Amino acid sequence: MKIAVLGYGTVGSGVVEVIRRNKDSIAKRAGEEIDIKYVLDLRDFPGDPVQDILVHDYEQIVNDPEVGIIVEVMGGVEPAYTFVKRALLAGKSVCTSNKELVARHGAELLEIAKERALNFLFEASVGGGIPIIRPLNQSITADEIEEITGILNGTTNFILTKMRDDGCSFEDALKEAQSLGYAERNPAADVEGFDACRKLAILTSLAYGMHVSFEEIQTEGITNITAADIAYAKKFDMAIKLFASSRKVGDNIFALVAPKMVGVNNPLYTVNGVYNAILVHGNVLGDVMFYGSGAGKLPTASAVVSDVVDATKHKHVNIMQIWSTKKLDLASNEGLVNNFFVRLPKDERKTAWDRLEILKTALLDDYPNEFAILTSPMSEKEFAEKTEGMHVISYIRAQA
Ligand code: HSE
Repeated sequence: MKIAVLGYGTVGSGVVEVIRRNKDSIAKRAGEEIDIKYVLDLRDFPGDPVQDILVHDYEQIVNDPEVGIIVEVMGGVEPAYTFVKRALLAGKSVCTSNKELVARHGAELLEIAKERALNFLFEASVGGGIPIIRPLNQSITADEIEEITGILNGTTNFILTKMRDDGCSFEDALKEAQSLGYAERNPAADVEGFDACRKLAILTSLAYGMHVSFEEIQTEGITNITAADIAYAKKFDMAIKLFASSRKVGDNIFALVAPKMVGVNNPLYTVNGVYNAILVHGNVLGDVMFYGSGAGKLPTASAVVSDVVDATKHKHVNIMQIWSTKKLDLASNEGLVNNFFVRLPKDERKTAWDRLEILKTALLDDYPNEFAILTSPMSEKEFAEKTEGMHVISYIRAQA
């Protein structure tokens, strides 16, 4: 099988490394040798062995009938979308790690692949090296999926863990995540929750077989999380995580990306550092959790290459069948029920006790003019109504 790799950045160089390092075992699993015929990049890499197969013109790849699979690891929507669509129209399967591309155009590209008995595979687009797309497509097929909750962004989980463990600042933790190759080129995509949002759109589309527009998912990042929030979380024996969650209740499907404070009993409490985890609840299976490296060169490359193996094994057989172009309308999150962690000035004590059902309270010496509470569960709407006019310093959804 001759393949071409589009993009020789962090993931692209990882794909080349994985295919070369594990050549024999990959060939056994794929049933034939995988040979990288071209690498496409705008840059040159003098001294790098890849220089011999480097090309700057996509036409050379897409017009070469010998190339059976194109690996797209450039990131961004364009020119990736044009390249991928042309590859499929030219009869080549595509494996990609590009969550922006998959979240925006996944349904259409899957349809094109299906019509032509090709494959459009994207295991690496969610959860880095964690197998989650293939399990959703091929393993958890007996169930109605009732809930998917994930820690889907390694950078934010790394930052929140560092801030909690080392007491370091948000900025320092972000710099370290960037230097380790976890963050997006524009880290706002990580810290504002957009990256997790796109991944949740992909998982939700796969779970329910219809297209979820990521723009319609309510998304809050971690930029407002402070050292004080983290100190209170510790006091409550809880941790703050960026959760990406979709839930089916009756005919309604809710989706939300937002920080959540969770206790030690939550399976996602112990997911730290760059690790990601995805908890899936099926109506007959119950809970199943997928855990592993959520970002980084080699884990992500491992997932991409697993798709190359699958595409090689399934020439002329389309294997990714669920996720139609039909749009899935998300329900309003007003009805979503959570506990709430709330910080209030001391002079709001009486109002808080009059209006809210309080499960726990905390006072910290470092923050003498305020207090924090954990409320009993209520809907988003109820929380907004009950706290209207109160001077809420900050609040975080919680699971007590
Ligand atoms: N920036 C992403 C993350 C990379 O931190 O999870 C993997 O998609």
